[in-house]
Amino acid sequence: MLNFNYSVPTKVFFGKNKIDLLAENIKKYGSNVLLVYGGGSIKRNGIYDNLIEIFNENDINFWELGGVKPNPRISSVRKGIEICQEQGIDIILAVGGGSTIDCAKVIGAGFYYNGDPWEIVTDPSKIEDSLPIATILTLAATGSEMNAGAVITNLETKEKLGTGHPSMAPKFSILDPTYTFTVPQKHTAAGTADIMSHIFEVYFSKTKGAYVQNRMAEALLKTCINYGTKALQEPENYEARANLMWTASLAINGLLSDGKETEWSVHAMEHELSAFYDITHGTGLAILTPYWMEYSLNKKTVDKFVEYGVNVWGINSDNDKYEIAQTAIEKTREYFNLLGIPSNLSEVGIEAEKLKEMAKQATRRGKLGNFKPLTKQDVLNIYKKAL
Ligand code: NZQ
Ligand code: ZN
Repeated sequence: MLNFNYSVPTKVFFGKNKIDLLAENIKKYGSNVLLVYGGGSIKRNGIYDNLIEIFNENDINFWELGGVKPNPRISSVRKGIEICQEQGIDIILAVGGGSTIDCAKVIGAGFYYNGDPWEIVTDPSKIEDSLPIATILTLAATGSEMNAGAVITNLETKEKLGTGHPSMAPKFSILDPTYTFTVPQKHTAAGTADIMSHIFEVYFSKTKGAYVQNRMAEALLKTCINYGTKALQEPENYEARANLMWTASLAINGLLSDGKETEWSVHAMEHELSAFYDITHGTGLAILTPYWMEYSLNKKTVDKFVEYGVNVWGINSDNDKYEIAQTAIEKTREYFNLLGIPSNLSEVGIEAEKLKEMAKQATRRGKLGNFKPLTKQDVLNIYKKAL
């Protein structure tokens, strides 16, 4: 296990009616709030009305930035910063999924940056501080509610890039699983695939001796497998939604990754799909993952795939190593199909002609990952297999 410093500064209020704690926690930071939300789901499911009532009852002043799109745009970030500067905002409250939360985080950091906020996306070292961020999560997927990262898209330059700074970690997050009852099937599936991918990105690692991280990762993977399909069949199953929600946060808050060398190559490959085709993040990950696994399977990595197959999928450990590995990969693919996610990039509108350019972009900062380092040609090969 490698050395690490572990700190998750975000307070989590988890469970039904935890919204009751909103006003008192906002007021610790002030009474001028920028409310950030997406395309209107919170207006349809009643969360918005509830918030306005709470703000009015508690003398909280609020300004709104609605319409944040999936794969949030830098243009929304710019608008948000303007409101914060004009209105003397004390705290930014993001209500939604990862896109809304990420947008809020970069608004918070952009507020203190003297220049265009795209510069702090391309170069996170320029971030010095952020306005306080709080979140009310409505979709179990990215884990943005409990980490310091954000991913922003620039449509003009066709770039989707991750950034982050400790000051961008939410001060508190309200996680009420009932808020995810209205998440449509497509996003429930994509969210589950995203959580699983976050776990794969840190589970498949060359670091030895991280036994506890590996066993926790397997437990979280099994939770996704158990409850992902259940949430699709029964959207209002509290147990399923609650387990997925907490798993989403735990999967990418450092618990599984600290002490290990990590991978993140499937995410880097997917970000290009979203940047070029604006597809749903989790859908792209689910399509690429089994192809990445097949491509990464070799003499050096096979034991890790055996560990995965035996401990997560319950495959007989007496079988031949490669047979276990291949069965595990096939089971992964079948599970994503069971969630209703297609197996090929062409099924989500991705064309052969852009693959080369995307592979080039994905590797612009060098090879991807450590478990099986990927060159531009490797990335292109994986894209082609996935087509
Ligand atoms: O916009 P609204 O109307 O709210 O609808 C959203 C959106 O259409 C809908 N939705 C969310 N909650 C709902 C709901 N619909 C009905 N009922 C509800 N309760 O779901 C759609 C997708 O929302 P979005 O926020 O885009 O999804 P997600 O949470 O998957 O976020 C994806 C973004 O996060 C980034 C991704 O790259 C992508 O841009 N990521 C952020 C990470 C982080 N900050 O740590 C890590 C991830 O790996 C990921 O890259
Ligand atoms: Zn992700």
